[in-house]
Amino acid sequence: MQIIVGTDFEEMSLTAAEDFIYTLEKISKPVICLPSGKTPLTFLKIIRNHYISQKKQPDWFFVGLDEWVGVSSSEKGSCRQFFDEHLFRPLRVPEEKISFFNGMAEDLDAECRRAEQFIASHKGIDVAVLGIGTNGHLGLNEPGSSKETLTQVIELTDSTIAAAKDYFSEPKALTYGITLGLGTLLSSRSIFLLGGGDAKAEIIRDVVEGPVTSSIPGSFLQAHQNCFIYLDEAAARLLAP
Ligand code: PGA
Repeated sequence: MQIIVGTDFEEMSLTAAEDFIYTLEKISKPVICLPSGKTPLTFLKIIRNHYISQKKQPDWFFVGLDEWVGVSSSEKGSCRQFFDEHLFRPLRVPEEKISFFNGMAEDLDAECRRAEQFIASHKGIDVAVLGIGTNGHLGLNEPGSSKETLTQVIELTDSTIAAAKDYFSEPKALTYGITLGLGTLLSSRSIFLLGGGDAKAEIIRDVVEGPVTSSIPGSFLQAHQNCFIYLDEAAARLLAP
């Protein structure tokens, strides 16, 4: 694990975005997954602006990290709508390069298999960018998920449901999510984890310095060979010097 601490959220996002672009420019047709949420907003803005200002279209393939079950792809709050707004539409990413979950699908197991097949047919995920929940989840792999899990449907914890309220414009009853599994994510060639703000300080300490345990899924990153943790000073404040 390599820890990179920026003085503030802006600097954390800039360093992570520069490293991400640099890493991907060395890979032909990389497969990536990206997190939705508040943490990646500035990171995505920097990436978007970089390619728009250069009038370049990155040749990347996108696999969805997760999705809320029962939420349609066009609804604000869905992972797919988030990326349509923040990346896919601005960069005019063609649909054939995107494999996201349909949270409204009747056969959710088939959605899980489709994601695994997409990843396998592209020879694995090159770079997985992740956020971290205050309960330590990666994607929607909630505490208790084993590190071997493949893409799965999972019951959401109360803290995830509470945090999700901010993503939706109106109240939403959420119970399940669909997510790339921990085994799937940990097989990625590189992992970038972004954690910003005071509210993430305790979980960041547990992820980085605590025991490796399924009760903190993020702690499994300690064993990954190529994992970079981007923090601001607020999120890093409880780490040992
Ligand atoms: P956030 O979500 O970026 O909105 O804090 C992170 C997560 O739950 O993974």
